[in-house]
Amino acid sequence: MVAAFRTHRDRLGCFVGRVTYLEETGSTNDKAIELALAGAPEGTTVVAGAQTAGRGRRGRSWLSPQGAGLYASVVFRPPLLSPVLTLMSGVALVEAIRCRAGLTVVLKWPNDLMVKRGVIRKLGGILSEAGASPTGLEYVVVGFGINLLAVSNLSALSDTATSIESECGEVVPLEDLLVEVLAALSVWRARMVDGQMNAILNRWRTLSPSSIASTVELDGPSGVRRGTTAGIDADGALLVRVNGTTERVVSGEVRWV
Ligand code: BTN
Repeated sequence: MVAAFRTHRDRLGCFVGRVTYLEETGSTNDKAIELALAGAPEGTTVVAGAQTAGRGRRGRSWLSPQGAGLYASVVFRPPLLSPVLTLMSGVALVEAIRCRAGLTVVLKWPNDLMVKRGVIRKLGGILSEAGASPTGLEYVVVGFGINLLAVSNLSALSDTATSIESECGEVVPLEDLLVEVLAALSVWRARMVDGQMNAILNRWRTLSPSSIASTVELDGPSGVRRGTTAGIDADGALLVRVNGTTERVVSGEVRWV
């Protein structure tokens, strides 16, 4: 781990000296939140070899066997706490995986990392969790899990999961991928600091072909409705055309059909 960080030190920006590796923890998001609450600066990153209580979105668990995936969480601070932050992180993750593993990963709203080879399978995901005080948002922890080894497909208990090893036939060392992810986050973070929100949104749109003209189902109080994706707006909401009107989807389950 240390050697890769030393070699790429000048690409790592605010992450230099702020990465902690734990052999095993409950959830790296919980550890990073603990550090954020104790005043840890932006760029503070917790990485774990295994998680015993890894969390996914919508209350799901994220099974995290030892060494089978990259499990990491990064602390961000104001002024970067807009909805664009998670989209920016998705862009950085995709670019890092494409660069280090040569694998064509795409994004599926809100922020799944997917690989399409015949069928489309999930390679990873992002869970962002924010903390606020009476004066506003204090931090956002962006946690991400990327399946490295074929065994992580099994751990996801689903034939809809995949891993870098399954797709590429070779194993990318955790530290190499982590360095590439942090370097990409550093580049895209700088663009965000610079106010280049449109560049980030446009890159996200390019990396997410399914956010346009795909058929989806939405759950609502009056039952399931079918619509067609029409992109994302500046706040990262998914736009869906349903019966001639455009709806903004900010949370809830969207099923691609
Ligand atoms: C998803 O549901 O797709 C999001 C999965 C996020 C998993 C990662 S693994 C590292 C970090 N710690 C957690 O407990 N969850 C995130």
